[in-house]
Amino acid sequence: MTDSSTVLGQERAAVADACRRLGAEGLLIGTAGNVSVRAEDRVAITATGAVLAELTADQVTVVDLDGKVVAGMLEPTSELDLHLGVYRRYGTGAVVHTHAPMATALSLVLDELPCIHYQLLTLGGTVRVAPYATFGTPELAESVLAALEGRSAALMANHGAVTHAPTLDKAVEHALLLEWACGVYQRAAALGPPRVLDEHQQLAVIEAAIARNYGTTRPVPPEQEGTR
Ligand code: 13P
Repeated sequence: MTDSSTVLGQERAAVADACRRLGAEGLLIGTAGNVSVRAEDRVAITATGAVLAELTADQVTVVDLDGKVVAGMLEPTSELDLHLGVYRRYGTGAVVHTHAPMATALSLVLDELPCIHYQLLTLGGTVRVAPYATFGTPELAESVLAALEGRSAALMANHGAVTHAPTLDKAVEHALLLEWACGVYQRAAALGPPRVLDEHQQLAVIEAAIARNYGTTRPVPPEQEGTR
């Protein structure tokens, strides 16, 4: 085994950057949460017990897809099975788990976060709440994996949230979006029963987003050109 920073050096630094960003955004508390990114058959993953908002690259361990440590001095997160399970089942590129306050609050009372805003379609629509199991157990990993079917986010009952994406930046964005949506739901629910987008409305959004390439900048089309 080696601690050489050349083993997935960029990925370890990227995981540390992502953790510090999530911390700055208020999604992390103390040592809670864990983050990983995959590079082919290796995974750079946060060490157990590390303070994520202050994470440095040497607190990121490298494992193979069976969980064997191949670089780094610190034991990987207790949620290793969960992260590896997401990579194996969904072939994704990065996983973010937090105990973000709004997501965790809703995980205490909901069985699912309904599709109350079209941006939730980025996560697959309705976000399921995975039934509770003790942290770090295969039971929790299985519960969360099932809740992620067809989705890139899940809430974890009385625990927190998990997101995944092809890239680490996207997985962080998903975590931020999920926390925002949970906050919106929480505020709305205090005022009255939130309206939910029905299937027809959701489909129309997907069609419009594809047609417009929603969320990207593009040059002004000729028919909109005025004098600049
Ligand atoms: P680790 O410090 O082992 O990553 O555990 C934190 C956590 O959030 C468990 O779910």
